[in-house]
Amino acid sequence: MGAVQKRQAQLPLRPAGPETVRALLAWYEAERRDLPWRYGPRKKADPYRVWLSEIMLQQTTVKAVVPYFERFVARWPTVVTLAAAPLEEVLQLWAGLGYYSRARNLKACADAVVRDFGGAFPRAEKELLELPGIGPYTAAAITAIAFGEKATPVDGNVERVVSRLFAVRQPLPAAKSEIRRLAATLTPSRRAGDFAQAMMDLGAEICTPKNPSCLVCPLQQDCAANARGLADVLPVKAKKLARPSRYGIAFLVQREDGAVLLRQRAEAGLLGGMLEIPSTPWLDALPAKKEALRSAPVTTSWLPVAGTVVHVFTHFRLELSVYRALVPVDASFTLWAEQERCRWVDRRDLHAQALPSLMRKVIAHGLDGNR
Ligand code: ADE
Ligand code: SF4
Repeated sequence: MGAVQKRQAQLPLRPAGPETVRALLAWYEAERRDLPWRYGPRKKADPYRVWLSEIMLQQTTVKAVVPYFERFVARWPTVVTLAAAPLEEVLQLWAGLGYYSRARNLKACADAVVRDFGGAFPRAEKELLELPGIGPYTAAAITAIAFGEKATPVDGNVERVVSRLFAVRQPLPAAKSEIRRLAATLTPSRRAGDFAQAMMDLGAEICTPKNPSCLVCPLQQDCAANARGLADVLPVKAKKLARPSRYGIAFLVQREDGAVLLRQRAEAGLLGGMLEIPSTPWLDALPAKKEALRSAPVTTSWLPVAGTVVHVFTHFRLELSVYRALVPVDASFTLWAEQERCRWVDRRDLHAQALPSLMRKVIAHGLDGNR
């Protein structure tokens, strides 16, 4: 009996099209998330805020981004003020958001907008694409959201919603271009920005990765996955390769006055230019103690801290052991060769440094683990 009732309750599928877009926009007007870079119905978007939010939201959740966004716009309310800021300060305010190349590109992009466009973001996707840190997704997002012009930014949320609406069975990432094409067919020429953000919100709140809320979804009637009982299994993802692990030993040196020794990383590469707790190279296996001590920043007696700090980067998992030492304030020990990259920072000032969250974990582990 249950099966019969279920079938009766089901309306016939209406293939996704202009009616779908209307239903989605109506839902968005009523239910949209109130986010600090969004603007009211009759207010013009500020391209600077749209751009800043989109850069921050790359690979970071909305919830994590909101407080950073608010601190940034309070400190630098326009692209001109951001361009005038020292890179070091931008990196400091960014610390904790991860992927620091984004912060460097952010600053480089602000500089370019001021230098090449008189401080006004260009509207065309093609011109936006030439700017540092702006790829196809971000260019489309700015064109649609900031300028209301027709463009289709496809992020993970949009990808999921579209793959379900059209019941795309091809696995990701191979299906990306087909999904992008389908998303573009739905994009209206008016209100492309609202459409993009409505898809993002639907993906975040209703059409969620697990257990999508199809019963309250405004697009239920238009959704091929729902009609075919596939909502839970789409999108299909190709099997990922396992992330390799790397290992290293970090050397946490505290001076008797409470200062901690930090080192600046090379400009190029992972966490480029950020500060760090000096460590051995990160390799496929944990180095032997004797080998590791060659990378120690000072010659002193080291205490291994119990446990490890694990941090997951995009391409590998890192497991750091921590060695700890206490040294006198006078220089009765020698810093090794990379002295010019090293500096002492008072414990109370650590929060304001351009320290990646991995290094904050190392410090917390090393300082708390031995109290
Ligand atoms: N994710 C990326 N851009 C977004 C936006 N403008 N609103 C909500 N989530 C987003
Ligand atoms: Fe997603 Fe379900 Fe809505 Fe389809 S009906 S768009 S699967 S929440």
